[in-house]
Amino acid sequence: MKIFIDTANLEKIKEANSWGIVDGVTTNPSLVSKENMDFKTLVKEICKVVDGPISAEVMGDSAEEMVKEGKELAKIHKNIVIKIPMTKEGMKATKVLSSEGINVNVTLIFSAAQALLACKAGARYISPFVGRLDDAGQDGMKLIAEIMNVLDNYDFNTEVIVASIRHPIHVIDAAQMGADIATIPFDVLDKMFNHPLTDNGIKRFKDDWAKCENTTKRPSKQKNTSKAKK
Ligand code: G3P
Repeated sequence: MKIFIDTANLEKIKEANSWGIVDGVTTNPSLVSKENMDFKTLVKEICKVVDGPISAEVMGDSAEEMVKEGKELAKIHKNIVIKIPMTKEGMKATKVLSSEGINVNVTLIFSAAQALLACKAGARYISPFVGRLDDAGQDGMKLIAEIMNVLDNYDFNTEVIVASIRHPIHVIDAAQMGADIATIPFDVLDKMFNHPLTDNGIKRFKDDWAKCENTTKRPSKQKNTSKAKK
């Protein structure tokens, strides 16, 4: 499963990218609004950090506006993916942009029916929002299972980005269902590294190491010791 980071914060993107596990970035208007930078400049900077798909969302309501914005954004970098909302106008724009070779991520997917329509319109990616469904008292991961079942029956060139992730269990559930991508907020990604037994294990190894004789220590230490003896 590919891991995207779901943020527009450059520092967080750089930090997560340094961990060696980031395949792409998703942004949205709410995330961008938290950053003190012009949108296009910010997107350009993100493209310099991560060599993978970078989603940037259009704000127009009509297909014409979305296509115009999408084409402008696509000029920024070859890795730009145009994020378009799941509306009728959005699907018209998806059809136009995808026919011209511009990758589209259809966002705000909350049903398998919407997912199917986005695939038919030529979306390269679809983003079902699991956390927001959970918040509304529905089962977000059940939607992912439904979408994966539907897509397994056909040959769409569409990858499923599990979005609106709230905790590591969402990520593991997504991986077990075979979702192509999880787009993960920085804090959730950070939590995925942690397990108390790992911390305890490292501490115990260090304590035992500190107790043992010099002769059993690492070759580099032995080298230093022998040099010191000479
Ligand atoms: O990027 C879209 C999605 O991941 C937003 O998540 O937390 O605002 O529901 P959230």
